Amino acid sequence: MSIWRVKPVSAFEADMKKSDLKRVLTRWGLTSLGIGAIIGGGIFTLTGIAAHDYAGPALALAFVIAGIGCLFASLCYAEFASVLPVEGSAYAYAYGTVGELFAWFIGWNLILEYMMGATTVAVAWSGYFTKLLHLFNINIPIWLCNDFATASEKYLALGQPAPTFAFNLPAFIITWLVTVILVKGIKEAAKTNNVIVVIKIAVVLFVIIVGAFYIDVNNWMPFIPDEVTTIGKDGISKVNFGFGGVLTAATIVFFAYIGFDAVSTQAGEAINPKKDVPFAIIASLVICTVLYILVSLVLTGMVKYDQLDKAAPVASAFSGIGLNWAVFIITIAATAGLTSVMLVMMLGQTRIFLGMAKDGLLPKGMFGTLHEKFKTPYKSTILVGLIVSVVASLTPINKVAKCVVWELY
Ligand code: ALA
Repeated sequence: MSIWRVKPVSAFEADMKKSDLKRVLTRWGLTSLGIGAIIGGGIFTLTGIAAHDYAGPALALAFVIAGIGCLFASLCYAEFASVLPVEGSAYAYAYGTVGELFAWFIGWNLILEYMMGATTVAVAWSGYFTKLLHLFNINIPIWLCNDFATASEKYLALGQPAPTFAFNLPAFIITWLVTVILVKGIKEAAKTNNVIVVIKIAVVLFVIIVGAFYIDVNNWMPFIPDEVTTIGKDGISKVNFGFGGVLTAATIVFFAYIGFDAVSTQAGEAINPKKDVPFAIIASLVICTVLYILVSLVLTGMVKYDQLDKAAPVASAFSGIGLNWAVFIITIAATAGLTSVMLVMMLGQTRIFLGMAKDGLLPKGMFGTLHEKFKTPYKSTILVGLIVSVVASLTPINKVAKCVVWELY
């Protein structure tokens, strides 16, 4: 067989007919999975650095620019998904158009997005979770909620010796919780995701509605602060603010949009994939874009951009106006939000493996076998859980994040 062979649409259709996956996902169930994958820690954290250092009040414009970029990509995904409504996402689309070699390459690239993405999010989840516990005066020892390198740095900063051992236990536990839900079935995964999506949309709406009462329009002037160019120690010039700064901010906040494509990996479990998957890809992206733009306007209206906290801009904007309890619900939303991002990313990863196994590009026994009762690819789900949990509990976040995006900022 040639490595250039292209899989015909009829072969995809034959695979779909043979599939044992449960078709339970409705149009809005798919849209909820999309929102579950998109809204995570990005909106609650990256908005700080993007506005403070690069865009100022034009943060909203940065979200519009990044959103337009994603919209073009989502339209491509939607069109492909309507022609090839199968679980393999971009891997399957490549196989159906440019051939096996490219499909193989893209399949492995998707692992960086989904499996390493879930790993990054697991480490971030641990950070939010420990913050949440801290609000209740519960403190996990540093060596038990960080990898060795990060724990050593933290102990050193406290003037204490490096530990002999460190392990990110919260990251390990959340990964196995998500794995169990995914093995139990797509219905359980979708239900869990729906609950989380309701929580995070409620909190985002809370931020928009309550925050709107604290907007001072003077904080929006000038909307795009004047450009500042500096030459770094490495001799490379850096542009802050101005239109160049807004573009840099758009690349930073792009992370907050990552996930809209994950819906395409669930086509095999959709009731009406040809119509509903394209709908859900575009609907989830549009809903999140509108929410993101509104959050940006409120945030930069509440606090002057140069006063925004770079690490936790949304939470600190609310504590700044005396609503300290808001810090608590925003931290819960971010923690819950990251859980659903993990859930959808790990779900997507196993479905891509399933598509590759069906085509004989991965061992069928390991990646293509469904559980008798749950009808989920349980072996590959457990394998993904194992890899994500071990890597997440032993690796610093910046190292795993670099597998997904070159630099977050
Ligand atoms: N879009 C996801 C987030 O913001 C990855 O966490």
